[in-house]
Amino acid sequence: ISLKPYNTFGIDVQAKQFVSIYSFQELKEIVATKKELFLLSGGSNMLLTQPINKLVVHLNLKGIIVNDTEKDYVFVTAEAGENWHDFVVWCISQNYGGLENLSLIPGNVGTSPIQNIGAYGVEIKDTFHQLEALEIASGKLKTFTKEECNFGYRNSVFKNELKGRYIITSVTFKLTKNNHNFNISYGAIKDGLKDIENPTLKEISDVIIAIRTAKLPDPEKIGNSGSFFKNPVIDLKAFKILQEKYPNAPHYIVSENEIKIPAGWLIEQCGFKGKRFGDAGVHKNQALVLVNYGNATGEEIYSLAQNIQQTVQDTFGISLEIEVNVI
Ligand code: EPU
Repeated sequence: ISLKPYNTFGIDVQAKQFVSIYSFQELKEIVATKKELFLLSGGSNMLLTQPINKLVVHLNLKGIIVNDTEKDYVFVTAEAGENWHDFVVWCISQNYGGLENLSLIPGNVGTSPIQNIGAYGVEIKDTFHQLEALEIASGKLKTFTKEECNFGYRNSVFKNELKGRYIITSVTFKLTKNNHNFNISYGAIKDGLKDIENPTLKEISDVIIAIRTAKLPDPEKIGNSGSFFKNPVIDLKAFKILQEKYPNAPHYIVSENEIKIPAGWLIEQCGFKGKRFGDAGVHKNQALVLVNYGNATGEEIYSLAQNIQQTVQDTFGISLEIEVNVI
């Protein structure tokens, strides 16, 4: 079958064998066959460049459980196949705080910890409590604490030492019931909330949705995987050199000697913003997002990405790391 409907980039590659999984029991049985598996969840952070010969397992585990015994917090566990944004909206409807800044991020709950999804000053590690994952080799379920996940910027143990070894089946978040810790320092959020005295979770979420809708392409309409690259971190010396030439270069201070530069700005400076090469392109409102206008192949998107990396390297001496999983 074609995997086009199963990846948000909308890349048309074939899978020889495909199975949808609806229960933990079914998942255990598939894992026990010891077949080589290719796991597919929301398909929102991958670029498929070739046919898949492994058994494609589409994870659809659903359900939300609330553990409400504390005064100020609840523990909310969502199964891996819950759609991320629907889950965020549901938490807001219950007045559970902590995920509102992460509204409208594509993908499913089960893959959110792999790259520690983040936006507008918040990452899931901020509210993450624990997760359960099935070890493929042993078929055993293991609980991972926050420390064991070793979260970093768009990073976790599941992208490194444990890559390909576990299937995340559920994730538990610790959310506020009252006294929410709003994070509304990000410029565009402040602007969006300027007429609102005491914003609610829903009002914050609505502002985020408006910002994202204005800047980021809707994968239902134009194929994409969000930010294609990570924002590079450079040292202070390199930043000073950059600043001499580009006094207005946007940047965030990470530490005394580390400065993060928005990759979207670097790519825009190189003239790629809004450019189109066949059906592969760079989004017109956010240069960090590569798009598929319809029938681009994974190779075409990948070769555009390499062209961008090379040009940014030649122009700025900065290397851009790809954030999405290239298959
Ligand atoms: N900029 C440009 N041109 C562009 C894009 C950005 O000049 O085409 C500059 C602007 O100066 C802007 C700055 O870059 O002020 C930052 O842009 P933006 O606020 O859009 O954020 P970003 O750094 O480009 C990151 C995340 C996004 C997340 C936003 C908001 C990464 C790789 N990306 O983007 O995450 O939504 O911050 O917090 O860290 C994703 O991971 O898929 C994603 C969309």
